Amino acid sequence: MRILAIETTCDETSAAVLDGNKLLSDCVYTQIPLHSSYNGVVPELASRAHLEKMPSVLKAALKDAGIEKFEKGCVDAVAFSRGPGLPGSLMVGRVAAETAARLCGVPLIGVNHLEGHLLACELENGRIAKPLQFPLIGLLASGGHTEMWLVRSYGDYKILGRTRDDAAGEAFDKVAKLLKLPYPGGPEVEKLASEAPGPGPAFPRPYMKGTLEFSFSGLKTAVSYFLQKHPSPSLDEKRLICRAFQDAVIDTLAHKVKEAAYKFGISRIAIGGGVSANSALRKAFSSFKNLETRFSERKYCSDNAAMITLCALRRIQAGKWKNSIKADPVLEQASWRIA
Ligand SMILES: Nc1ncnc2c1ncn2[C@@H]1O[C@H](COP(=O)(O)OP(=O)(O)OP(=O)(O)O)[C@@H](O)[C@H]1O
Ligand SMILES: [Mg+2]
Repeated sequence: MRILAIETTCDETSAAVLDGNKLLSDCVYTQIPLHSSYNGVVPELASRAHLEKMPSVLKAALKDAGIEKFEKGCVDAVAFSRGPGLPGSLMVGRVAAETAARLCGVPLIGVNHLEGHLLACELENGRIAKPLQFPLIGLLASGGHTEMWLVRSYGDYKILGRTRDDAAGEAFDKVAKLLKLPYPGGPEVEKLASEAPGPGPAFPRPYMKGTLEFSFSGLKTAVSYFLQKHPSPSLDEKRLICRAFQDAVIDTLAHKVKEAAYKFGISRIAIGGGVSANSALRKAFSSFKNLETRFSERKYCSDNAAMITLCALRRIQAGKWKNSIKADPVLEQASWRIA
């Protein structure tokens, strides 16, 4: 079974080919340099860049997979991220995927991008190494989302909670901006936090008792108020602020995940999305007693089409897929099963 997948939800143009359980290609073009001077992704620039880069990314993905050109039988299915994501960017991916599927005469399978972030935990050294075991608590912590899912099997997802305001990655980016650090902020904040001479100022933990939802905008505001009282921080002071902010985010994510695991009697956790690349977070989640946490390899934490091939594969294996060509920027279901 050969699957070509295309990913264009935000600022990465990516295409990958999976053959059996092996990735034959995995090409990612990141637009980060294009957006960095704006401290965030500019939707119109993103969709134009997807359009410009799509042909060369697809060409590279086919070449690495040893496929000469799109023709009947060169792959068995084409998948694409149909949402959630930026509308213009999604449309570029959808049109490219539909064109490829028609040229190859194969089904087109639209999948949920966040499911891709979760299933990325199965990839290791370019292979599907260890299939996930169920049930598990899935935590998606990325630039646009922070969600916790009860996962009973592939495609059987119940959303337990999501952020009411900023996503965890968004909070990292906004705090980095307050500290005049480059975009994207997550890796910059992590680096300074790792050099901090101590734990830093006390910032609040938004545990939101009684709900499994999240909220990170208050924490970001606490950093902003702190900076109003302590303007022009030195490098060491910035390190302390990064450390204190990062600790607060990690403590909050860890607290909520443990709460959900306890509530539902579940001992497995899988975490995906850009924030899961954070080393301090990985260390904290790996130290949970009686809970086993799966992460994706760092290169699969941010957006990539490899994880989208996996979503399509699991649907095909379950015999639960339908030809779908509709992109949906706000694709979100309170509870959902693959149809
Ligand atoms: N080491 C890190 N520590 C903390 N945050 C990080 C780290 N590396 C990346 N991030 C954050 O991850 C986010 C990017 O992740 P990702 O690419 O998964 O998000 P996205 O695809 O833009 O959003 P979504 O998947 O919700 O559509 C950014 O906000 C970035 O700052
Ligand atoms: Mg993403």
